Amino acid sequence: MGIEETARALAEIGFGEVYLRRRVSVDKRKLLEEHFNSFKDCTKCPLHKHRTQVVFGDGNPNSPVVFVGEAPGEDEDRQGRPFVGRAGKYLNRKIEEVLGLKREEVYITNVCKCRPPGNRKPTPAEINACFPYLKRELEIIKPKVICCLGATAAEGILGKKLSVTKVRGKTFSYPYDSSIKVLLTYHPAYILRNPTADRDFTEDMERLRKMIR
Ligand code: URA
Repeated sequence: MGIEETARALAEIGFGEVYLRRRVSVDKRKLLEEHFNSFKDCTKCPLHKHRTQVVFGDGNPNSPVVFVGEAPGEDEDRQGRPFVGRAGKYLNRKIEEVLGLKREEVYITNVCKCRPPGNRKPTPAEINACFPYLKRELEIIKPKVICCLGATAAEGILGKKLSVTKVRGKTFSYPYDSSIKVLLTYHPAYILRNPTADRDFTEDMERLRKMIR
C-alpha cells in the first residue's frame, strides 16, 4: 500500500492527522571511515613500532555477522586487509560453502589492528589498548552475531579467559549490547594445523547460518 492509500485508509477509520517519522539512514561506511581515520596513526601500544600499517576491518558494514580474528599476520600487514593469507582463504571458502555468502558480503576484523612481531599472540595490554577501536567498530555495524575466531578474539570480546575447545559452538551475549549474540569457534589457522577440526568448524558455520537468517 502506498503512502496516499494508507493516509486515505487511516482517514476512513477516523485519523484526522498522521505524523510520519523520517527514517534516518545511517551511512555506516562513512562512520567507519571517520573512525579508522581517527586511529590510523595510533601509538598506544608497542605494536606500532613494527607495523607496516594499521589493518582495519573490511567488508560489508551492513552484514548480519562480524568475524573477529586475533591480529594481522605478515600478509595482512603488507596488504592492509584482514585475513588475506592462508587462514583467510580457508575462511573465505567456508563463508561461501556453508553460509552461501561471498566474503564481500560479510564483515571481517581483528581484536588487534597491528601485527605482533613474528606473529606472536598479542599481550593482554595490547588487546586492552586496541579494544576501544573494535568496540566502536561494532557499535557502528551493530551486527546480529559476532563470530569469534579463536581464544584471543573470544577473550577480547567477552573480557574473560576461555578454552575454545570447551566452549566452541556456544553462544553468549555481547557484554556491551546484549541484543548482539557472540558465537565462539576455532581460529582458521588452528584448522590448517589440525585438519580434523574442520568438521567442528563447519558445524559452527551451520549454526551461524541459522542465527543470521
Ligand atoms: N589471523 C588473524 O587472526 N587475523 C588476520 O587478519 C589474519 C590471520
